[in-house]
Amino acid sequence: MARERIVILTGAGISAESGLGTFRDQGGLWAEHRVEDVATPEGFERDPELVHWFYNMRRAEAAKAAPNAAHTALAALERAHDVLIVTQNVDALHEAGGAQNVLHMHGSLARAKCATCAAEWDAPMVMTVSDPCPVCAAQATRPDIVWFGEMPYGLDEINAALSTATLFAAIGTSGNVYPAAGFVAEASRLGVRTVEINLAPSAGAALFDETRIGPASTTVPDWVATLTQR
Ligand code: APR
Repeated sequence: MARERIVILTGAGISAESGLGTFRDQGGLWAEHRVEDVATPEGFERDPELVHWFYNMRRAEAAKAAPNAAHTALAALERAHDVLIVTQNVDALHEAGGAQNVLHMHGSLARAKCATCAAEWDAPMVMTVSDPCPVCAAQATRPDIVWFGEMPYGLDEINAALSTATLFAAIGTSGNVYPAAGFVAEASRLGVRTVEINLAPSAGAALFDETRIGPASTTVPDWVATLTQR
């Protein structure tokens, strides 16, 4: 079995069967909350109380969620190949499922940062506008989440990994948000094999060499089996 170098992009769909809401599905998070109000720096500036409430609620839900068979299958894949999991998700279910090499390109509910001095620390379960920054004491603490209009984390590392990859997989993402939605085109340009694993074809489905449709808790273990049982 040749050792593959695999870059895996995951989205909210991989955590759906763990009980965490997606964004753009029926009844998703963006159906209940305006992105402009809870996922932009302007929204935080306007109403930090509402934004802290939104992420406190998501942090509490994420704390109750357990990894599903898709998360644990990717951890098993890490043991057989060189794998980088680039997740758009802010939950910690990849790590809870045993994955070691996870890059949270949209930040993490488990982290907080200071809007004044950019210090970062482990987030408490409940954040409030009056929390002082542990470094500069300013009352400017915010979730360490990448909001719309902000630069995602790890883009240099992601592009470097894509440039030496033998396989790119996108799992549980609708392919609506860039730069993540552009990784498949970059992989194809570099001659990397690409596979989409999703409940329904994404916006970028036509760009993939292979597509596996179905719930991640079954499609991901099936896909991993093709790479670990040869
Ligand atoms: N198994 C596999 N895929 C699923 C499942 C499931 N059980 N349930 C839903 N999906 C798929 C949907 O078909 C959809 O294509 O997961 C995808 C979820 O898409 P979105 O809700 O758009 O989530 P995502 O692609 O992760 O959003 C990307 O947008 O709002 C921003 O920063 C936020 O990281 C997020 C980014």
